Amino acid sequence: MDFGEVLSILKNDLNKVEASIKENFQSDVMLIPTIGNYLSNGGKRIRPILILISSRLCGYNNGDKHITYSCVAEFIHTATLLHDDVLDEAEIRRGSPAANMRWGNEASVLVGDFLLSRSLTMMAEVKDTRAIFYFSEASRKMVEGEVLEMINPFNLNISEEKYIDIIKRKTASLMSASCRIGAILGKRLSTEEDTLSNFGAKVGIAFQLVDDLFDYIAEEGKIGKEIGKDITKGKITLPLIHLYNNASQKDRKLIEEIVKSGDIQDEDFNKIIDLMKRYRSIDYTMDKARVYIKEAKEGMSSFNDSLYLNAILSVADYIVERDM
Ligand code: FPP
Ligand code: MG
Repeated sequence: MDFGEVLSILKNDLNKVEASIKENFQSDVMLIPTIGNYLSNGGKRIRPILILISSRLCGYNNGDKHITYSCVAEFIHTATLLHDDVLDEAEIRRGSPAANMRWGNEASVLVGDFLLSRSLTMMAEVKDTRAIFYFSEASRKMVEGEVLEMINPFNLNISEEKYIDIIKRKTASLMSASCRIGAILGKRLSTEEDTLSNFGAKVGIAFQLVDDLFDYIAEEGKIGKEIGKDITKGKITLPLIHLYNNASQKDRKLIEEIVKSGDIQDEDFNKIIDLMKRYRSIDYTMDKARVYIKEAKEGMSSFNDSLYLNAILSVADYIVERDM
C-alpha cells in the first residue's frame, strides 16, 4: 500500500477531522479563526492519520472519539509550531509566510495558547483521564525537548545520544501518544498500547531525523519552509554532529568558524553541504532514520495482518520516503 492509498481508505474520517478542526477554531474574537484558517492549510496531518489508523487497527468502531482526538493532536501540534516559529524566527511555514511574520509574535503565542486551551476542553468532553494523561505528558516532554535544544545552541560537542534524546521529546512524544490513543480507544491490553506507543516513538524520531536532514538538502518549494535555518540559529542536528565528529582537524576548524560566525552566507552553507557529502553525513542520517523505521515496523509483528496494519506500516515508510 502506498501513502495515497492510506489517504484514500481514511478519506471519510479525514474529512470529519478537517470539519472538526474548522469548527473548534471558531471564536467571536475574529483574529483567532482568521489565523486558524490560514494555518490549517498545507499540514500533512500525520498525527491524526496515526490516531485514525491505530484506532481502527485496534477495533475501535463505535463512535467519533478518534475524530476528536485527531483534532486534539493536530491542535497541540499546531500550537507547538506557532510557538516554535516564534523561537526560531521562522519566515515560512507550510509554504506561506509564517504566522509570526504576518501577525507578529504576540498573536502567534496567543493563538497557540488558544489551541492548547481548546484541546483541554475537547478532552474534558470525552472524559477519558488516560487520554488526557498521555496527551499532557507528551506536551510536557515537547516543552522539555525544546528547552534542552534552547540551552545547547552552537554546541558542536553535543553527543548523538543527547541529540536523539532531544528529538525523542520534542517530536516523537506526540506521535507516540497518538498511536497509543488508538489502543486506548480500542480498549486493548497495556502490552498492545506499549507496542503502538513504541512504534509511534520510533516513527517520530525518524521523522525528525529526516526533517533535520531536509534543513540542509531539501528544495524549499517542496518542504514549504526555509532551509539552512538550523545551522544559522546554532541548532546542531545529526548531519552536523556526524560531520564534526568525523572531519579532519583542518575541516573541524573550518566547521567551527562557520558555525560560530552566526552569519552564514550561501558560500559557507555550500561548503558545509560539500563536506557533509564527502564525510557521508547525509547518508549516515538517512540510514539512521531508515533503521528507526525498520525497528518500528518489526515491533508491530504481534498484530495480525490486516488492511490497517498495512496502512500504519506504509505511514512508517512514507516518513523516510517523503519529499516534504
Ligand atoms: C519543531 O522543531 C518543534 C517541535 C517539534 C516542538 C516544539 C515545541 C515547543 C515550542 C514547546 C511548546 C509546547 C506546547 C505544548 C505548546 P524544528 O524547529 O526542528 O522543526 P521545523 O523545521 O518544522 O521548525
Ligand atoms: Mg522550527
